[in-house]
Amino acid sequence: MRVLVSGGAGYIGSHTVLSLIEAGHDVVVVDDFSNSKPAVIGRLESLAGQHIPVHAFDLADHDKTERLFAAESIDAVVHFAGLKAVGESVAKPLEYYANNIGSTISLVRAMRRHDVRRLVFSSSATVYGEAAPVPYVETYEPLVASSPYGRTKVMNEQVLADVAAAGELHVALLRYFNPVGAHASGTIGEDPQGIPNNLMPFIAQVAVGRRERLSVFGDDYPTADGTCLRDYIHVEDLAAGHVAALEHLGAMAEPVRAFNLGSGHGTSVLELLRAFERAIGRELPYEVVGRRPGDLPAFWADPSRAADELGWRTTRSVDDMCADTWRWQSQNPQGFPDA
Ligand code: NAD
Ligand code: WQD
Repeated sequence: MRVLVSGGAGYIGSHTVLSLIEAGHDVVVVDDFSNSKPAVIGRLESLAGQHIPVHAFDLADHDKTERLFAAESIDAVVHFAGLKAVGESVAKPLEYYANNIGSTISLVRAMRRHDVRRLVFSSSATVYGEAAPVPYVETYEPLVASSPYGRTKVMNEQVLADVAAAGELHVALLRYFNPVGAHASGTIGEDPQGIPNNLMPFIAQVAVGRRERLSVFGDDYPTADGTCLRDYIHVEDLAAGHVAALEHLGAMAEPVRAFNLGSGHGTSVLELLRAFERAIGRELPYEVVGRRPGDLPAFWADPSRAADELGWRTTRSVDDMCADTWRWQSQNPQGFPDA
């Protein structure tokens, strides 16, 4: 297939571009580089050994999106493009709704006009909200997120389910748990701009000397060591999940299907820190501070649907995630270069 990857210069998109090419697909990228650097494309081309066509514009722009579909022959779309910072979404909700919903509508309109019917969408475990029992299962309802960012995921899922039900699309809604890690080459990885919001990139920046110490947000949760449990998933396993979902779309019994992409295991904040320390062979400074508002004590995936229907499961351990993150961060202490 010739696959359009929206947000293909970003963290998860870049790894998925490579996995798609390795699986024999052709890839076209659209990205406005609002949260990524053009340098990632050169790294991808070196790793893939081929040229990757890139269109640099805001996907919420209907005219430009239409022109892209007119110019390129596209068979399917993997849609990553969007803003993803939970805290920023509380401060700038309109930007989040306009970008995350607007880009999906623009994309799906152009897909309809050009008779492209296969879509894989980046959703999130955040759609399960605060009341869902763990492990999370795809059949849980109602989906209610607690931030504007999370609500854009719930709304996007609803928009896509309605369009699919009208017979216009086959959609896989992939609900990611906590993606971490990097490509084994150490040449691409997660490169947050500014102070990292998420745990693994923060630990990696402490390890490389960019931050003084990790703040552990609370150790009084009802868990074994008092810190929160999350289901960390290696970005390479996640990328493989997109290939599996894309190749399954034509065989899906229903036009829309949600899949959890997680390992099925919870790891605490302190366990992840200890694993990272093992990977680098030294201890890292940290202090326990107050809870971060909105954090849930513990959640992880029931990944059995993806195993049964997509034949996909995670293969990489938390130790692999830490070793690969460290290879990327130590080889690229400041992330991707600006030019
Ligand atoms: P990222 O920010 O690294 O990648 C997103 C890419 O999309 C960036 O390169 C950015 O420049 C681009 N982009 C944003 N808005 C755009 C627009 N309107 N037009 C064109 N390009 C645009 O984020 P990521 O971590 O790779 O996440 C990818 C997707 O997965 C997002 O939709 C995110 O919400 C979702 N997701 C991420 C996580 C996570 O923890 N990383 C978890 C669950 C879901
Ligand atoms: C993990 C744990 C923190 C940073 C977020 C989004 C979610 C999804 C993935 C997109 C928590 C603790 C963190 C730090 C810490 N994104 N922590 N010190 O919150 O599970 O999920 O990213 O959909 O929607 O909410 O991930 O990596 O931020 O936090 O102690 O400096 O690490 O409290 O327990 P989270 P995270």
